[in-house]
Amino acid sequence: MLRRGPSAHEAWPVSNATWTPSTWLSRPAGQQPDWPDAADLDRVLKTISTLPPLVFAGEARELTHQLGRVASGEAFLLQAGDCAESFDAFAADPIRDKLKIILQMAVALTYSAGVPVIKVGRIAGQFAKPRSSNTELIGDVELPSFRGHIVNDSGFTAASRTPDPDRLLSAYHQSASTLNLLRAFTKGGFADLSRVHAWNQEFVASSPSGKRYEELANEIDRALRFMEACGVDSSVESQLHEADLWTSHEALILGYEEALTRQDSLTGDWYDCSTHMPWIGERTRQIDGAHVEFMRGIGNPIGCKIGPTCTPDEAIEICEVLNPDRIPGRLTLTVRMGATKVEDGLRPILRAVTDAGHPVVWACDPMHGNTFTSESGHKTRHLEDILTEIGGFFAAHRAEGTWAGGVHIELTGDDVTECLGGSTEVLVADLDTRYETVCDPRLNGRQSLDLAFRVAELLRAGA
Ligand code: TRP
Ligand code: MN
Repeated sequence: MLRRGPSAHEAWPVSNATWTPSTWLSRPAGQQPDWPDAADLDRVLKTISTLPPLVFAGEARELTHQLGRVASGEAFLLQAGDCAESFDAFAADPIRDKLKIILQMAVALTYSAGVPVIKVGRIAGQFAKPRSSNTELIGDVELPSFRGHIVNDSGFTAASRTPDPDRLLSAYHQSASTLNLLRAFTKGGFADLSRVHAWNQEFVASSPSGKRYEELANEIDRALRFMEACGVDSSVESQLHEADLWTSHEALILGYEEALTRQDSLTGDWYDCSTHMPWIGERTRQIDGAHVEFMRGIGNPIGCKIGPTCTPDEAIEICEVLNPDRIPGRLTLTVRMGATKVEDGLRPILRAVTDAGHPVVWACDPMHGNTFTSESGHKTRHLEDILTEIGGFFAAHRAEGTWAGGVHIELTGDDVTECLGGSTEVLVADLDTRYETVCDPRLNGRQSLDLAFRVAELLRAGA
């Protein structure tokens, strides 16, 4: 692995004496690209380290506070977006449509379950992908694996697959414009509750869940009119007109994350300003590894995925290293065990972490443990398996008396055919129609709304 020279950060005082933004360099770092030219990489990282932060520390602290309410059972986390964002499909419409479906899901959850929903996108930085193998072999040609557009391109040629540091800079700029558009939409009127109908795209509205959503939207209209009639001046209630959509991505390429890690002038603490909520993937959560080392020192709220091999002791160790001060909302454990394993696999972990006194946001990633290859050769998932895993996740929490705090979903606002099932069913024969994902199969808008209504029912049943 290539190392950067000493960074300007290192001379600065840090609150944690043994941590700096570059101490991860002394630990084994999995999933890092084999950059062809160290000097070239260094040049780009130096440039990024001088560019403005994408988010600011106060926002990260506010999100920790809101997630703290999830940890104590007073709110619900909806984390959703692409498996991997694409450099090719970068335009306003897909961002707007992704926002529409996330707002629709959030409204359905808020209205049906009666708890605040913290909305976090896998967006504005979700570019890097961990891979099971460093290389891909087709016939007798072996090339570096595709690691997401922040590293290389998916085409199977040597030129496409060679890691290119300039992509780090492109990822920064695409993240900045995506975030800018999201801020404009969510604060500029698009997320206004008087616009609930406008978020229901045509292909979603015609489905059973879309019709159910229309009824719910009508009820919200009535409730707003009722409040007006009672003399409440809704124009001054900014909560009705604006929403927060926080950003998150897997913090995989550590040089990039380090270059955007800045010291907060207010508190002196370090924040990874590439996103509000970075997370550690299942493949890079080794306690002595570079990713855990990097993440333990930043002040952001952070996530860590845990899969079926995670033991209760490991889960406690993760909590102790990543959240030694036991700050509610600091750590989200995102469980991705698979539909058949989650209920029994999660219960001992819930018990152990709770007994150890660690406040945790428990989120369910029902996507990554349920991927298979269809007869047609497509990497896919079935909505029924996804819903079964969510059901098992809620059942485990019910049995242990803990709060099923949220879901983590791969979706798109587009009418794609990548996952099977749904109330307007996608069949194996349909997969080829619109299979566009850069990486894993995503729920389309209809399937996402189906899922939101199912989660709302589970939340109501638990209340
Ligand atoms: N501000 C509140 C919230 O974010 C209410 C709200 C406004 C809302 N627009 C929304 C909720 C869109 C969900 C979706 O919860
Ligand atoms: Mn994925």
